[in-house]
Order: sequence, then C-alpha cells, then structure tokens
Amino acid sequence: MRLAVTDRCNLRCFYCMPEEGINYLPKNDLLTFEEILRVTTIFANQGISKIRITGGEPFLRKDMMQFLESISAIPAIKKIHITTNGTLLIDKIPKLKALGINSINLSLDSLDKKRFHEITRRDDLDKVMEAMHALIAANIQVKINMVVMDGKNTEDVITMLELAKDFPVDVRFIEEMPFNGTKGQGNPTFWSHKTILEHIKTKYADIQKLKDPAFSTSMNYQIPNFKGTFGIIAAYSRTFCGTCNRIRLTPQGTLKTCLYDNGVFNIRDLMRAGATDEDLIIALQEALNHRAKDGHEAEQNRNKNFPVSESMATIGG
Ligand code: 5AD
Ligand code: SF4
Repeated sequence: MRLAVTDRCNLRCFYCMPEEGINYLPKNDLLTFEEILRVTTIFANQGISKIRITGGEPFLRKDMMQFLESISAIPAIKKIHITTNGTLLIDKIPKLKALGINSINLSLDSLDKKRFHEITRRDDLDKVMEAMHALIAANIQVKINMVVMDGKNTEDVITMLELAKDFPVDVRFIEEMPFNGTKGQGNPTFWSHKTILEHIKTKYADIQKLKDPAFSTSMNYQIPNFKGTFGIIAAYSRTFCGTCNRIRLTPQGTLKTCLYDNGVFNIRDLMRAGATDEDLIIALQEALNHRAKDGHEAEQNRNKNFPVSESMATIGG
C-alpha cells in the first residue's frame, strides 16, 4: 500500500506540477496521521505487509518522523520504503536507519545542475547528492527514479546509469505519464521503455536481464562489473499491470486500486461518518473485487468528465 501523506512539495518538477504549484488541499481534507495509522493497521491485518510512504514530499509533513515510528511499530508491516525528492533528508538519516527503513527512492532526473534546475525549477541538486551519499554510507538501499523526457534529460540517461557502476544503487528509468497537474498531455515525442533500453544498449551492449521480483513494476537488468543494477518502468505503456498488487491511499483518503483510476471510494469520509473496522474491511474487499484488469481499462472507466489531469503529488507517486 502506498501512502501519499501530503500533496505539498518544495520542488516543482514540470512533469508533476505547474510552476505556481497545484491547488493544495485544505488541511481538514487531509487524512490525519491517526486516521492513516488506523487504516494501515486494519489493512495490515488483512495481509498488507509493505508500505511505501510518498507524497508530494513526505518530509514536508509535520511530525513525519513520529508517524514513521508508529507505522514501523505495526507488527504485520514488514517493510517500509519511502519515496522522496531527497532535499530534506540529510539530518534524518540516522533516525531512518534506527527505525529500520529498508529502502529510499530518490526522485532525481539529472546530474547536471542546470538541467536539474530546469526540471525541478529549484537549485537543490547538491542537497540531493549529499543525501544519496549519506544513505549509501548508512547502508540504506537507494533507488534513483529518473523520468526520461525527450528534449529535457535524455543526455543524462547514461551518466545516471553509471551511478550504478560506482555505487550499489538501483537506477530506474521511468516513462513519463500525463499526471502533471494540468490538462495538457505529456511529451509528444515520448521515450518508451523500448527506446530507453535501445539507448542504453548503444553504450552497454552486454546487459543481462535479471529475474524480476514478484509483483515488480520494473524490468531489471545488470551490467557486468557494475556495483548496482538498473530497471525500466513502463509507467505509460503499462506492460506490468498483470502482476501489480499495489493499492494507493491519497492524501485526502481516496483509495485507488490503479494509478490510472479515478478513485474507488473515500475512506476518510467513511471513517468520519463512523465506519467500524469491519465496514472498512468490507469496503476494501469490494474495491479489490472490482479492480480493473489493467491501467488502460482503469483509465477508460474514469468518468468522462475527469480525464487524467491530476498531479502525481495528489495521487501518490
Ligand atoms: N510521469 C512519470 N513519473 C512521474 N513522477 C511524478 N510525476 C510523474 C509523471 N508525470 C515520478 C517522480 C517520482 C515518482 C514517485 O513519480 O519522479 O520519483
Ligand atoms: Fe515534488 Fe516529486 Fe512532484 Fe517533483 S515529482 S514536484 S519532487 S512531488
């Protein structure tokens, strides 16, 4: 289960939000940490064992570290991962390590200061790199998420990949999706998973396919003598839907069984109307029983008045 704990962000990655930001949710609309903990505990007892904390930028939410402490105290939760832009991380790493956080995904789209700035509209590359090195030193598994975009950062694909030559990190290249907070679609000359792999092969012909972990959304590869690995996520082509078992809880409490659906029900409203634990379990089971067969069907089933236009920050990346 992916928990998007806030829709706020201190960066403005153009593929996620317009420059002026999105209309942030009023505070009352957000699930409280108590509510999130309640849902997580109930669902964990139904078999959810892995949580990914995401946003927006999760470390912008007040009391985030206490929240992580509470989540990690739920016995049925075996793995906690976090997706973050890495800018607010550095002083929290010892605590994250102590809490047993298994892995951190850093959103990082360029290693070039100028392009990083153009993409995120902020000048924070140094902070992210400092955090990455501190995570590696602390022995926390690092994954790098790079959205590959024609005309923006394709020249960074190989340099990003080569991070895995020198460091034990997993670099994941992601197809751009239309979740950018505007009605406009994504890039017309789009880099698909195939284009990305072909591009990598022009420099590294000798790549080996790894066996993908169960329920993986990435296709994973190894290059001889690299300390780390790389993966490609066909987030737009949606080739992995058959094995996806994720559910998402948005900051305002909408449960989604697919990134591309329009939300199945609002669990905040149910809870605030007095739902019992049993009611919440029934609602969850009902949602899972009617899950779309893949992300294309989920997108088609959206109400026609709601084409994809929301930001990843409100869905939970
Ligand atoms: N397309 C693809 N990936 C996106 N992300 C955010 N918006 C988009 C988009 N429109 C990614 C971020 C982050 C992850 C959670 O989702 O880069 O790493
Ligand atoms: Fe913030 Fe992540 Fe969206 Fe970038 S992609 S604006 S870091 S939430």
